[in-house]
Amino acid sequence: MSADNPTICFCLNVKKNTIVEAIENGAETVNDIRQATRACCGCQSCYADLEILLDKHAPKQDGSSDD
Ligand code: FES
Repeated sequence: MSADNPTICFCLNVKKNTIVEAIENGAETVNDIRQATRACCGCQSCYADLEILLDKHAPKQDGSSDD
């Protein structure tokens, strides 16, 4: 099933799992994801989606939240 692994960047044909993997491997910005996966190297309409994935999958900082 690919329902859980949609294509995020259509220009470079990069799927969600590839991007999540890059984030888990240390990508902290859209630029990092770009370098790791080549996503967002075309029209950049996927930029916002990459930011959402960064937000969702970035490793949580322990114990220092001031929210
Ligand atoms: S959809 Fe990602 S660069 Fe165009």
